[in-house]
Amino acid sequence: MNSLRIKIRHLLVQGETGKEVCIMGWVRSKRESKKVTFLTVNDGSTIHHMQVVVDLEKFSEDTLKQIHTGAAVKVTGTLVESVGRGQRVEIRASDIEVYGTADPETYPLQKKGHSLEFLREIAHLRPRTNTFGAVLRIRHAMAYAIHKYFNDRGFYYMHTPIITASDAEGAGEMFRVTTLDMEQPPRTPEGKVDYSKDFFGKETKLTVSGQLEGELGALALSEIYTFGPTFRAENSNTPRHLAEFWMIEPEMAFYDIHDNMDLAEDFLKFLVRYAMEHCTDDLEFLNQMYDKELLSRLQFILDNEFVRMGYTEAMDILVKSGQKWEFPVQWGSDLQAEHERFLVEKHFRKPVMLTDYPMEIKAFYMKQNKDGKTVRALDVLFPRIGEIIGGSQREENYEALHRRIHEMGLPMKDLWWYLDTRRFGTAPHSGFGLGFERLILFITGMSNIRDVIPFPRTPRNAEF
Ligand code: 4AD
Ligand code: MG
Repeated sequence: MNSLRIKIRHLLVQGETGKEVCIMGWVRSKRESKKVTFLTVNDGSTIHHMQVVVDLEKFSEDTLKQIHTGAAVKVTGTLVESVGRGQRVEIRASDIEVYGTADPETYPLQKKGHSLEFLREIAHLRPRTNTFGAVLRIRHAMAYAIHKYFNDRGFYYMHTPIITASDAEGAGEMFRVTTLDMEQPPRTPEGKVDYSKDFFGKETKLTVSGQLEGELGALALSEIYTFGPTFRAENSNTPRHLAEFWMIEPEMAFYDIHDNMDLAEDFLKFLVRYAMEHCTDDLEFLNQMYDKELLSRLQFILDNEFVRMGYTEAMDILVKSGQKWEFPVQWGSDLQAEHERFLVEKHFRKPVMLTDYPMEIKAFYMKQNKDGKTVRALDVLFPRIGEIIGGSQREENYEALHRRIHEMGLPMKDLWWYLDTRRFGTAPHSGFGLGFERLILFITGMSNIRDVIPFPRTPRNAEF
C-alpha cells in the first residue's frame, strides 16, 4: 500500500525535485482558485505541511468534492520547486485517493485557531493540530533522550510495579485497586471490609512512585532508573498536577546528596540541549505561537550553574523579601509554587536546588541530618514550573529508618522487604524523581499540564 510513500518531513528537507513521490496524510486546508486547487497535507512527521497543487482539468469533480479539511488522502505526483512563498517544494498531483472524508459541517477542527480549553474537549482529535503535533513529537523526543542519557551512562532501566501494597511517599493519596463487589464487600467480624478476600489477599493501590523498589535495584545493579506511570489521588486542580503522570526515577548506590545534585543538573541540561538540537522546528513554532520567551528560557538553563542552597537559608530570603505571600513563610512550612518561583525568577534568576528540608514535611526514607531536625532532601526549582524534581539521599541506617517509620505511624509490616536492604549490605544511596509532564511543560512553554499529555487524568475528568 505504501511502498512508494515518503514522509513529508523527509520530502521537505531533502526531496529531489522532478521525482515521482507519494505522500499519505490529512488535509489541513483547501484553497480553490479558477484552474487549480491548493491543498495542504500533514502526516504528523513535521510541523510543516506539504502543499499539493491539484490541476482541475486532471481531476473529476467527484474526487475534489470529497476532499475537505480533515480528510485522509494519498497523493501521488511530481515533486517540484515551489513558486509560492513558505515552502521549498510542492507536489503537482497526478493521482489522489481519498481514504476517509471529513464532513465540513461536523468536523470540529476547521482551519481557524481553537482555544486550548476547547481542544481539551476534543482530545481524541487534537493530535491533528499544529500545537499538539509539536507537543507530542517533543514528548517523544524527550522520552527517547531520557533512555539515551541513562543507557549511555550505564544505568539500567528497571520496571517497578504499578500495583502495590505500600505507600512510597507515605502521603496516603492513592487509588485503590480491587475486584471486590463494591455494593456488598465481604466484611470482617468487626464489620470492616475484608481485604483478605480481595484479589491479592490484601489491600492494594496504584503506585505513587517506583522509588522503594528502585532502591532494591540500585542496591544490586548500582545505578538504575524507572520511567513509568504514577498515580496520585490528591485533589489539586492546578495547572501543574495530574492524577496520572509519568515519572523518571534514577536511583544510585554510593551517591551522596552532592553526587545526586550533580546528576540532576547534568541530566536536566542534557534534556534541554537535546530538545534544542532535535526539536528545532517544533520549538520555534511554540515560541512564536505561545511564548516568545521559550527559547531564551531554555538557553537560560544551559547558561547558568544551578544555585545550591539549604532550605533554612532560602526560608530566610523569603521571610526577609518583604513579598506578600498567599501562603505564609516560616521555618517548618513547605514551599509553595509562589515561593519557589520567587527564588528562581526574581531573587537568583537561576535554577535553584534546595536541600536539607525540615524532616516533618518530607518522606520517611530521607537521610536524617545530625541536627535531628532536617533531612537530606533535594528539590530542583525551575522558572514557571517551581518544583520539577524531588529527591534525596536515602536513610541507609537500619535503626534510624526503623525509628522514623515507627514515629510516623507507617505500617511496618508492609515495609519489611525495604528494611531488609538496610540489614544486608546497606550502602549510602540517593535518587530523585523527575515529573515527565513538568519537564514537557517547561520544554514546550505550554502553561497547563493538561496540554502536554495526550489524555489528561484530573479530578472529575477521565474522558477518552
Ligand atoms: O516530589 P515527589 O513526590 O517525589 C517522589 O515521588 C520521590 N519518590 C522521587 C524520588 O526521590 N525517586 O515527586 C517527584 C516529581 C515532582 O518533583 C514533580 O515533578 C512530579 O514528580 N509530580 C507531579 N507531576 C504531575 N502531577 C502531580 N500530581 C505530581 N506530583 C509530583
Ligand atoms: Mg516533591
